[in-house]
Amino acid sequence: MSFRVTVLISGNGSNLQAIIDANLATTATFMVASVISDQANAYGLQRAAAAEIPHHCITRAGCTSKAHFEQQLLKTILESQPDLVVLAGFMRILGPTIVTALRGRLINIHPSLLPKFPGLKTHQRAIDADERQHGTTIHLVAENIDAGQIIAQAACPITPGDTATDLQHNVQRLEHKLYPQVITNFARGIFTYQNGKITCEGKPLKIHSCEIQNTLL
Ligand code: GRF
Repeated sequence: MSFRVTVLISGNGSNLQAIIDANLATTATFMVASVISDQANAYGLQRAAAAEIPHHCITRAGCTSKAHFEQQLLKTILESQPDLVVLAGFMRILGPTIVTALRGRLINIHPSLLPKFPGLKTHQRAIDADERQHGTTIHLVAENIDAGQIIAQAACPITPGDTATDLQHNVQRLEHKLYPQVITNFARGIFTYQNGKITCEGKPLKIHSCEIQNTLL
């Protein structure tokens, strides 16, 4: 199992936990090489410690400038020798130096069916917009926020009376299944980065915004 995954977090780390659990399965095709947080009190750091995964904390406050912070962050990421870098609730926008250095192997999970609702407060915005469904998107990280190539999506219905908290819960249940599946597809070489795009077994990736059992995964 040599496919190395580095996970960046800022908080609870429930997606990290789902990735760690998948990593512990006997059928695992990847290993979590390192967990990096930009918040000293992120609960995800405790999850990494409990799983005996090397973990690091690099805070903006501990650096002299944004450039210094990014330099330290990139150095720590590269030291973990990742095949794939996974943003899982990492609440900072990465600058062009990091995005360029990790191009094609840096992915993020966003709690909406992109291109709908980039940015924050996605669950409430989906309710306010009278959407019938909501969900999650895993995408390549590019310079434009939440705008890199979509790799996978999973959707759930919005039913009358649903609150933002209900949606957050439902979306996270999807995320906890989808993220390990997508990482596994990278580890197995099913998803590869070719000519600026992620391809699926060498063919263009087809994405359907539908329920998880109907995705291509
Ligand atoms: C997830 O819902 C993800 O979509 C968003 O941040 C949340 C992180 O949750 N980017 P957790 O820290 O993995 O519990």
